[in-house]
Order: sequence, then structure tokens, then C-alpha cells
Amino acid sequence: MRTPIIAGNWKMNKTPSEAKALVSALVPLVADAKCDVVVCTPAVDFAAVSEVIKGTNIKLGAENMHWKESGAFTGELSAAMLKESGVEYVILGHSERRQYFGETDATVNLRTLAAVKAGLTPIICVGEKKEEREAGYTNALVTYQTLIALSGLTAEQVAKVVIAYEPVWAIGTGLTATDEQANETIGVIREAVRSVYGDAADEVRIQYGGSMNPKNCKGLMAQPEIDGGLIGGASLKAEDFSKVVHFDA
Ligand code: 13P
Repeated sequence: MRTPIIAGNWKMNKTPSEAKALVSALVPLVADAKCDVVVCTPAVDFAAVSEVIKGTNIKLGAENMHWKESGAFTGELSAAMLKESGVEYVILGHSERRQYFGETDATVNLRTLAAVKAGLTPIICVGEKKEEREAGYTNALVTYQTLIALSGLTAEQVAKVVIAYEPVWAIGTGLTATDEQANETIGVIREAVRSVYGDAADEVRIQYGGSMNPKNCKGLMAQPEIDGGLIGGASLKAEDFSKVVHFDA
């Protein structure tokens, strides 16, 4: 009942010419996809990528945005700037933003509210660090991160957002949560959503992210709670990303 969504997060990779080459290779490979396909790219790549994906089933996403509509925020991008550049999705609260750029749950919430108001679909990232999992805090932490991020949205709005469960210890490390671990924690996130927003929990799509690749995607995607993937490294090669898009092949 929930359409799976596979999104690439290119992070700080691909210049505009490289971006053009990558999406050009991707377009024919994923044209038959049964799931939603998104590429979240650096802002300098929006123009090149938009041109190539026009009229295809690939949607454009950004990797972050500011919550203010405009103003003296040097280096930042507003929702309106993203919209006018053809962006439909925006990753918010990625653990790399939290770790290296001072992102907090409170600012993730401000960004989420601004994105939804502008008609963008946020991909809200939550997840625990290794020591937090070992200390037994995972469920409490992802519950807290999720509910703060969504605070102020209506149930109708919550139903349309995307959440990405990304255990920090699994990002770029080659370590993946087991299928069962990922399913269990995503189930916890869904129940957190249900506790405040009721049946919207059955509609909200929750992805897994963290070293997801052509080899492990089938098992992860077979789990009942897992509605998609947020793919870092494996989204940088068209063939690999296409294999994840075709996770049930
Ligand atoms: P990797 O797939 O490279 O582990 O990155 C995951 C991620 O951070 C996606 O947002």
C-alpha cells in the first residue's frame, strides 16, 4: 500500500558535468522502475540534472535547505530557490549535517515546517550512534528525533513526509544494520508517529539508509516496515543505483 521510494544522496560528489553523465546513464536504466526514484544532488548540479530528467520518472532532491524564506544567511538556500530549480524532495537532518554543521533536532523541525509549507517533500533523517545503540538508547532516541522533527505538522502533512532511519554507525562504513535490526527500529519510528498522528503512521514512508547496496537491498526491502532506501556510495554509479531501484529483481 506504500509505494517504495529509493533515493540517492550524492553528498559532496559530482560536478555538473559529472552529474549530467551520471543521470544520463541512469535514465534508461530505471525507466521501468516500480518504485519512486529520487536523486538528491549538490545544488550546483540542479540545472544539469533537471534538464536530463525532464519527462522521466526520476525526481530531483536537495541535500539540505534553510528554514527562512530569504535574508542575510550567507551560503544558504531557501525552499523557494529549490522549488524554482525543479527540486521536489529535500533531505533534512542528515547525520553528517548534525555531526559537522551543528544541526539540531530543533533546526531540523524548523526546516521540516518550511519545506512542507513550500510544497517540498522532506526526507527527515534520524538514527543512533554506535555508543547509543550499545547503551540501549536507540528506541528512545529515534522516537525523540522523529517527534521533534514532525512537531507542528498536521497528521495529513505527516502522512506525506519521508523519514530515513540511518544508523550513524552504518553510514559509509560497509556495516549494515541486519534486516531485522532495521525493520525493528523502523517499526519503533512508525509507532512513535502513530502515538501522535494516528493512522498517518500507516502512510508515512520510512526508508533505511547506511551502506545499502545491490547485494543487501533485497533482504532489507523484503522487511514489512522498510519502505525504501537512502543510498550514499551506491548511488554514485548508475548500474549500482539501478540495481537497488530494482531491489526485487
Ligand atoms: P552510504 O550508503 O554511503 O553508507 O550512505 C548512506 C547515507 O548517508 C545516505 O544518506
